[in-house]
Amino acid sequence: MTNIAFIGAGNMNAAIILGLLNSGMPANNIIVTNPSPEKRQALSTKYGIKETANNIEAVKFADMIVLGVKPHLIRTVCSEFSALDLSEKCFISVAAGTPVAQIQSALQNNPAVIRTMPNTPSQLGLGITGAFASAEVSEEQKAIADNLLKAVGEVVWLENEAKINNITAISGSGPAYYFLFMEAMETMAKSYGFNEEQSRLLVQQTALGAANMVVKNDISISQLRENVTSKGGTTQAALNSFTEGGLIELVEKSMNAAVSRAEEMAK
Ligand SMILES: NC(=O)c1ccc[n+]([C@@H]2O[C@H](COP(=O)([O-])OP(=O)(O)OC[C@H]3O[C@@H](n4cnc5c(N)ncnc54)[C@H](OP(=O)(O)O)[C@@H]3O)[C@@H](O)[C@H]2O)c1
Repeated sequence: MTNIAFIGAGNMNAAIILGLLNSGMPANNIIVTNPSPEKRQALSTKYGIKETANNIEAVKFADMIVLGVKPHLIRTVCSEFSALDLSEKCFISVAAGTPVAQIQSALQNNPAVIRTMPNTPSQLGLGITGAFASAEVSEEQKAIADNLLKAVGEVVWLENEAKINNITAISGSGPAYYFLFMEAMETMAKSYGFNEEQSRLLVQQTALGAANMVVKNDISISQLRENVTSKGGTTQAALNSFTEGGLIELVEKSMNAAVSRAEEMAK
């Protein structure tokens, strides 16, 4: 059985740990680190996993290491491991904007590294992660990482690292796009006289229903849209207004802005 170390006891690592345990991974095979004792001990007490303040001890224990610290700390944390034999180990980074080459250069001797871009719904097990494996990652390590990442949702493997920037613009930042749209609809619901609770319920249930229709139907999204748009009806009136107002072009421009920002941040 693979041993897994989680460097950092923050939100993302906690979500993956919970998902792994729910998927049947024994708690004994998991270790978590964190400088401050409260967070790592809370996870250890709640889930029965091992904990330590010592990152090196955790890496020695593990075959697979999840780097769950903030991006600006990745280099410092990885440098701690450069004197260890990492030839059989595989690192998974969830740090935004941190290229594989940077991680490998801090770790030294080019160990196996998988760079990922998860998104926040991972915390509910409903995430989607884009993942890119460096050439040093074996098929076996990739399969283990696939299982690990699927503990918090779906996984899309990328054939080249640059695609991580596109993933960032689609699913990484994507939840906020939907939140913005839902906020705008909620504001309109209130303006029609619905109270706070009713407005939120109307919007969230509509979003949930629409998302589930996409998930549960095997037809294209555009077909689903056409199916609910009667000619000359109310939906068509709204959709025409959206397209005439330039919504499609705005989505293109906005997502490209996210890609450009991701490219800049990786430099
Ligand atoms: N949250 C998300 O939904 C999400 C989505 C996509 C990507 N990510 C990525 O996931 C990573 C973690 O994000 P997060 O939201 O989980 O952040 P977070 O909650 O702040 O977790 C980071 C953890 O790392 C700990 N830490 C700091 N220095 C450390 C060290 N030297 N050794 C070990 N642990 C250390 C921090 O401890 P202290 O708090 O005690 O300093 C904190 O508990 C980031 O790189 C982020 O880009 C997160």
